[in-house]
Amino acid sequence: MCGIIACVGRPDETVDVLLSGLSSLEYRGYDSAGIAVANGALDIRKREGELDNLRAEIEDRPLTGSFGIGHTRWSTHGPPSDENAHPHTDAAGRVAVVHNGIIENYQALRDELEADGCEFVSDTDTEVVPHLMASYLDDGYDASESFRKAVSRLTGSYALAAIVAGEEAIFATRQDSPLVLGVGDDSYFLGSDVPAFLKFTRDVVYLENGQSVTLRPDGWEVTASDGSALDPTIHTVEWDAEQTGKSGYDHFMLKEIHEQPTALRQCLSGRLDPLAGEVVVEELSNLEPPERVQFVACGTSYHAALYGAHRFREAGVPAQAFLASEYSTAVPPIEDDELVIGVTQSGETADTLSALRAAQGHGAETLAVTNVVGSSAARECDHVMFIRSGPEIGVAATKTFSSQLVSLSLLVESLAPGTGTRTRALVESLRDLAGNVQSVLDDALPSVEELVDELADSEAYFFIGRGYNAPVALEGALKFKEITYEHAEGFPAGELKHGPLALITEDTPVFAVVTGDSVPAQKTLGNIKEVQARGAPVVAVTDGVLEVERFSDMVLEVPETEGPLGSLLANVQLQLVAYEMADYLDRPIDKPRNLAKSVTVE
Ligand code: G6P
Repeated sequence: MCGIIACVGRPDETVDVLLSGLSSLEYRGYDSAGIAVANGALDIRKREGELDNLRAEIEDRPLTGSFGIGHTRWSTHGPPSDENAHPHTDAAGRVAVVHNGIIENYQALRDELEADGCEFVSDTDTEVVPHLMASYLDDGYDASESFRKAVSRLTGSYALAAIVAGEEAIFATRQDSPLVLGVGDDSYFLGSDVPAFLKFTRDVVYLENGQSVTLRPDGWEVTASDGSALDPTIHTVEWDAEQTGKSGYDHFMLKEIHEQPTALRQCLSGRLDPLAGEVVVEELSNLEPPERVQFVACGTSYHAALYGAHRFREAGVPAQAFLASEYSTAVPPIEDDELVIGVTQSGETADTLSALRAAQGHGAETLAVTNVVGSSAARECDHVMFIRSGPEIGVAATKTFSSQLVSLSLLVESLAPGTGTRTRALVESLRDLAGNVQSVLDDALPSVEELVDELADSEAYFFIGRGYNAPVALEGALKFKEITYEHAEGFPAGELKHGPLALITEDTPVFAVVTGDSVPAQKTLGNIKEVQARGAPVVAVTDGVLEVERFSDMVLEVPETEGPLGSLLANVQLQLVAYEMADYLDRPIDKPRNLAKSVTVE
């Protein structure tokens, strides 16, 4: 996810402060970096790749300025390149802007600006902002008004910071992307996160959506969206330096679990039309609806693929998920109008790439569903859909799984649209999804901690679910074993009696995922009774619709929502169970033994 830093009030060391801020934001993941400083005129350096590339560029061509802005870019619109790196400017170089988020209406704005003669030099959505500001400056508005007017034209998610030649000020605002103000004695800062400026001040203002801030050498002012001045609370940060990259969380995994509401909003941004009750995925507009679908994926992404295949089949399209490592051993027949979809967070998993190449070799049209712009899967496939989770650092995938489930739901609605009612119901519950995930995150801890205390010495742990909840049972077990090192297995609930039931004892808790009141959910109740009769403690992960708590020893609750999305909420509970158990057992949660985030060998 992109990182923003800005600083005013340290004229002798502006460049060093910006570079040190960018270095503290590296943990967010990035593929290019840049800074802009002001000394009357604006001066900019930006480079694709590591921060060291930018440092080398600055060493070759030094620059100074009494204040400035900086950015680490994590690509969403256009691949990593010097041109696409921020800051972006207007043609005359009067305005420089850094941005984190997605401007949903950028294409319409770009068309309008191009029609007025603006020349764009990047593929980014961001570049519309400096051009818009410049057009307002040309119309005679001052710098502050030009910023406000430009921002009022934007829809989407953004944290923005801008500087204007000849103006001793930094203008910034946020909407659904983070931005924090740091208040030092004689210097002021902006950061996407506190670590960006923590070594200069611990006093911070967490800006709210719609608020703007102006920093000048002699002070700062926060204003509401109507322009009225505010008197925001200044908080003092108490964390130690070690924790800062994790925003105060003990582990990246926990941070990423808590980032899910933001990641999901980002994934859905601009892709729902609530009025029409429709799904609009721009990247898929050139893709013909397939007659049949094959998925290839590994690990967590394979579980997402199982979910996607299930949803396609429900929508009437034959679909099957394959383990990528097995796919190439006997490539299934590929028919005309068949689409092969690689689901891969990193876009670099060797098994998945090899399966996609095998499918292409057999004439298939391919689609990558991935998190990483510019990854091999994104480049090699015929089509690509981005899940827009932001970088994931913990080895155990969490937020990217949720974003994969949502992306695949959008994909199915785009390629096999349902009746108005089905799609409309989904669109409505997708709008509530981030809030529902947030409520699970807010309320889960007491029950999860009690459960961990109670069950920590068990012999093995089983996870069951049917239908949409079968992949969640597999994923719940995978997460649990990856980071606790305890024996855990997941099964489609109906399979239990075909073998695994032999392992069930009083010492093997069973997590049963039951959401909604569908036939599969009702059948899972029967499976719960089977394990209870053999003495196993049952943990129901449920929305309570089928009153499954009456047959369970412990309950992890999730809000009631539209069928397929209940599974996503249940999975958030299971992520927390795995995390809390691993923490209780003192495991190295972010780097579990023997595992790698991106497996680039077959
Ligand atoms: C590795 C990781 C897993 C991940 C799998 C697939 O095994 O440890 O967490 O699910 O690769 O990765 P991908 O990047 O293709 O989703």
